Amino acid sequence: MKKRMLSGIKPTGQLHLGSYIGALKQFVDYQDEYEVFAFIANLHCITVYQDPIELRKNLRDCVALYLACGLDPEKATIFLQTDIKAHAQLGFIMNCNTYMGELNRMTQYKDKVAKGEKNLTGGIFTYPTLMSADILIYEPHYVPVGEDQKQHVELTRDVANRFNNRYGKTFTIPEPLIPKIGARIMSLQDPTTKMSKSDHSDKGCIYLLDSPKKARKKIMSAKTDDLAQVKFDTVNQPGISNLIQIYSSLTGINFSDIETKFDGLGYGDFKKEVANVVCSKLEEIQGKYNEIINSNIIEEILADGKTKAEVLANAKLDEVQRKIGIEIKM
Ligand code: AMP
Ligand code: TRP
Repeated sequence: MKKRMLSGIKPTGQLHLGSYIGALKQFVDYQDEYEVFAFIANLHCITVYQDPIELRKNLRDCVALYLACGLDPEKATIFLQTDIKAHAQLGFIMNCNTYMGELNRMTQYKDKVAKGEKNLTGGIFTYPTLMSADILIYEPHYVPVGEDQKQHVELTRDVANRFNNRYGKTFTIPEPLIPKIGARIMSLQDPTTKMSKSDHSDKGCIYLLDSPKKARKKIMSAKTDDLAQVKFDTVNQPGISNLIQIYSSLTGINFSDIETKFDGLGYGDFKKEVANVVCSKLEEIQGKYNEIINSNIIEEILADGKTKAEVLANAKLDEVQRKIGIEIKM
């Protein structure tokens, strides 16, 4: 039997090169080897206010991009988090099995507090408990995520172990699967911070739906250094190292071969080559996206995914509820 793998992406804003390289690409690369469950975390995204009209559009885009990036609905189960009501219900149960101290230690939450962000919601604080439910309800062996989500998967493991100890073996303990290359793609404008939808500068982030012309411009103006050598050195050359990671992840060429290939060439030549590789990937994705976005296959695929995921999720939730004693029946 194939091992199972599950992951999700929030449909907040548009998917970018970081979400593709750090997460989505792994779902696609592993879909033959594993039984992949890939969902859209549309509950997690409302932990921060979203404009409803924009959110609805982003939701469709997100599913279309899953498909355009190569996820095959014949192999992977693709669904919306809200279509499986058991996620939120198990989320509350997980919330009751997680300590405030654990949630207080989550860097994603701590960073928001440290930045002085106002009006943080309860949803942001308890976010990892819903994520634990998303994962544990399907008992995957692996959870492919970027570096920033590793801590949440580790918390999931702790909570699952605690639950199993209290109530008897119920959950498989999942492992985070962090890509060796590209687990943290950095902003092109500030290579010490990660590429993100909430980047202050639009120039630092390449969206999967950016026109190739725009993407090329962003790469050509990416921040580098004055050391004039294409070398992987995240401390002294974070900008160049980031471009090396992007290039390596998209071509499969390893770092030292990249260093050799560009030895003696200027940053302009290197950036041009990175831009060529990124733009041809974007063209490929956008070509498929344009075919998908106006068809009704999105609804069909989600309905199909819902049917498959729901059976597993409901059975697990039922088992959990019986074990913790909130059901009359045994
Ligand atoms: P999000 O878009 O925040 O839901 O993230 C979706 C997935 O992409 C998660 O697994 C993240 O860890 C991953 N991810 C997001 N941004 C980056 C980045 N800059 N580099 C690598 N992975 C990322
Ligand atoms: N929290 C993840 C992110 O921000 C999205 C997510 C929600 C997720 N539930 C998940 C990822 C379960 C993996 C498994 O990227």
